[in-house]
Amino acid sequence: MTKPKVYVTRMIAQKALDMIAQVAKMKVWSGGLPPPRESLLEEVRDVDGLLTLLTDKIDASVMQAAPKLKVISNFAVGYDNIDVAEATKRGIVVGNTPGVLTETTADFAFALLMAAARRVAEADAFTKKGQWKTWGPMLLLGQDIHHTTLGIIGLGRIGAELAKRARGFNMKVLYYDELRRSAEEEKQLGVEYMPELATLLSQSDFISLHVALTPKTNHLLGAAQFALMKPTAILINTSRGPIVDQKALYEALKSRQIFAAAIDVTEVEPIPLEDPLLTLDNIIITPHIASASIATRTKMATLAAANLIAGLRGQIPPHCVNL
Ligand code: DGY
Repeated sequence: MTKPKVYVTRMIAQKALDMIAQVAKMKVWSGGLPPPRESLLEEVRDVDGLLTLLTDKIDASVMQAAPKLKVISNFAVGYDNIDVAEATKRGIVVGNTPGVLTETTADFAFALLMAAARRVAEADAFTKKGQWKTWGPMLLLGQDIHHTTLGIIGLGRIGAELAKRARGFNMKVLYYDELRRSAEEEKQLGVEYMPELATLLSQSDFISLHVALTPKTNHLLGAAQFALMKPTAILINTSRGPIVDQKALYEALKSRQIFAAAIDVTEVEPIPLEDPLLTLDNIIITPHIASASIATRTKMATLAAANLIAGLRGQIPPHCVNL
């Protein structure tokens, strides 16, 4: 029996590639950057399965170019890079990698929160530039973390893990979500529901975003929302860049309307070098690495492989977003 064909759009953990090689004829894009559009359109022509990254835009034209395509397995929990409605229309199953990156991502969101509050990146740069001349009572003063209030926007898996971390620092945790958790879950997590986003924004010292990017969450935070925040507020974003209006964020940071931000995602990735956000000292910007621990990226790779293999076999992937 001939093996199905698959295209993997970047080098991933060998363990996952070995799993795929057992059941399929595989081609892997070996470049460090995503395959250019023309290569992608060319490579998908006779594939049964695709293993993609969040940097690959898988829209109707890619699916049109791949008439045999049965499964798209995305190496990420987020799948806004894929036109899922189009895939569903064509009977293509789409998989993602939830669960395995939850705690690693929450760890990183908390690391950003702490780093922004205590100005860790700025202090490191200060030392390395030879600016440390003496101990100073007013040197690099930041914000406390303990006994403050964290506002979580989107209390899904990652948001809930962040809440647990915050409780360890005696923080009060508020959350805003379209879906309210049960009273039992709220009690267990020690979180308080805010029916209005505006209330959460005005009461929180730290605001962390954990919602998926959809037309509804696009620019969820803009100038009007920054105006509601405390001047000491710190924004954390480990979800998707376009959830924040980046121009409005720049204005809010520049004018010190808010204290700081730490973001792992930007509206355009990578952030263009001429972006004015890069000129500010009260923002930390990391290159979309919240899930980047060795163990987690291996688990994401094997889960993406398992989703792909199930789809090739005509089965429902363990994590399917268009059942
Ligand atoms: C995801 O999985 O959606 C993250 O953005 C990358 O881990």
